[in-house]
Amino acid sequence: MDVVLPWKSVWITGAGKGIGAALAKLFSKKGVTVYISSRTPADLAQVKDSCRDYPGIVVPIPLDITQPEQIADLVQAWEAGEGIPRLVILNAGTHTPCAVSEFSAEHCKHLLDVNLQGTLNCLAPVLQRYIRSNDGQVAVMGSVAGYRGLPAAAAYGASKAALINLCESLYLDLSALRVKIQLINPGFVRTPLTDKNAFEMPFLLEPEEAAERILIGLCSDKFEITFPRRFSYLLKFLRLLPYRWYFRILTRKNMVKNVQGEEGSKMGTKEFKS
Ligand SMILES: NC(=O)c1ccc[n+]([C@@H]2O[C@H](COP(=O)([O-])OP(=O)(O)OC[C@H]3O[C@@H](n4cnc5c(N)ncnc54)[C@H](OP(=O)(O)O)[C@@H]3O)[C@@H](O)[C@H]2O)c1
Repeated sequence: MDVVLPWKSVWITGAGKGIGAALAKLFSKKGVTVYISSRTPADLAQVKDSCRDYPGIVVPIPLDITQPEQIADLVQAWEAGEGIPRLVILNAGTHTPCAVSEFSAEHCKHLLDVNLQGTLNCLAPVLQRYIRSNDGQVAVMGSVAGYRGLPAAAAYGASKAALINLCESLYLDLSALRVKIQLINPGFVRTPLTDKNAFEMPFLLEPEEAAERILIGLCSDKFEITFPRRFSYLLKFLRLLPYRWYFRILTRKNMVKNVQGEEGSKMGTKEFKS
């Protein structure tokens, strides 16, 4: 994409690896100042180092999005100095596939704390400032896994479904303002997060390609940035089906067995009723 970008700076959470790191590199290449956050300073240093030949300055800001006081300190520091970046990408998230035999409240809480509450901890202070100045753009990382329940992803899918609904609602609330909110719903992207998946991931993209597609979406007026199209449209179609058909298709395709192994498969092949 060879256009001059409308932002001088961007804050990307979860930029130590995976999609966030690829986005940081792309923005730096385009000359944008990139504030990169994650909990692991060594990852951030590596991303900064990999951008040393690019024109955009990279500023590592180690923080944990589950700690609201760390975000408050950052926002205050920006307000006292260079100002909050006019583009914020709330990308940080986590996922540990979980077989139903290991279903636990602790596991769910951890995923919801990071993916949902952690994102809110960043979103709220940023949005408050954007609304006050009637200017700014924020993109929230969802997932096509939030469209409908998928095997071995109960807590992850719930966290992403909540983010999807939240962004839809905020889009309506912000429609009279010059504050732009967008939702990013990728399919599978090869990252340390998906390296944990033991099953075959259809339409798998490299993080650099995902970053390119996200950037194109950020420059557009689209609310939802979703890719690869064929995969996300297929899942959107499945979203329209009644439960009986949806569950049959997923179990017939042996997805429960592929994702959860034999034990999960036995539990998943009962007759589903809508
Ligand atoms: N990869 C995919 O196929 C895919 C598909 C759809 C959506 N997504 C979403 O895209 C986002 C990025 O995924 P990814 O695949 O790039 O994951 P990843 O490779 O695991 O990278 C996640 C990043 O988030 C950071 N992070 C995790 N917990 C954090 C916390 N509490 N505070 C601050 N930073 C934290 C991690 O660094 P530290 O652990 O050092 O903090 C890391 O830099 C996630 O929201 C994910 O749900 C991914």
